[in-house]
Amino acid sequence: MAFYENDVEVFIDSAQLQARVRELGAAITRDYQGKPLTLLGILKGSVMFMTDLARAIDLPVELQFLGVSSYQGGTETTGEVRITSDVTRPLHGQHVLVVEDIIDTGLTMKFLLENLEARHPQSVRVCSLLEKPARARTKVDIHYKGFVIEDRFVVGYGLDYAEKYRNLPFVGVMKGK
Ligand code: IMP
Ligand code: MG
Repeated sequence: MAFYENDVEVFIDSAQLQARVRELGAAITRDYQGKPLTLLGILKGSVMFMTDLARAIDLPVELQFLGVSSYQGGTETTGEVRITSDVTRPLHGQHVLVVEDIIDTGLTMKFLLENLEARHPQSVRVCSLLEKPARARTKVDIHYKGFVIEDRFVVGYGLDYAEKYRNLPFVGVMKGK
């Protein structure tokens, strides 16, 4: 019996994730030919997606990470975003692709995009594995999108519930939520 089986059921399985990541990687490879591309992963939720996506891109990319905290540990957003760990190299002149696990209310990404603008990159686009449009509170343009999902709380493949389940190799839903 696997540790999660009482609490989580599979929603998007590993094969579906990998197939979609390969498609996104191919699209990004086509779009960024000859351009200095930085993948900016938002910690911690994007880590699994980021490492798979980076390997699906056939270009010399830079990897950077930005730590943000927008949740207090439950399932509700507070609307308040804090940068807890910054990039280690300047984004000036780079084509920045922000890699995120999920756009829910969109408030985190709105804050991030405003913050990134001030660093004068050549361009900024958003790549999100998941989007939950039912809960959107602000419009965010997601250029590369993995899956649009209904309003369910999801875990796994980087996403957590109170820091748990990030290591599941699939995206699951909490049973009874
Ligand atoms: P937003 O600011 O409401 O768009 O929320 C963005 C962040 O909330 C995401 O980067 C996730 O870390 C977290 N989040 C939103 N929905 C979920 C979910 O269904 N499962 C796990 N984390 C979530
Ligand atoms: Mg996140």
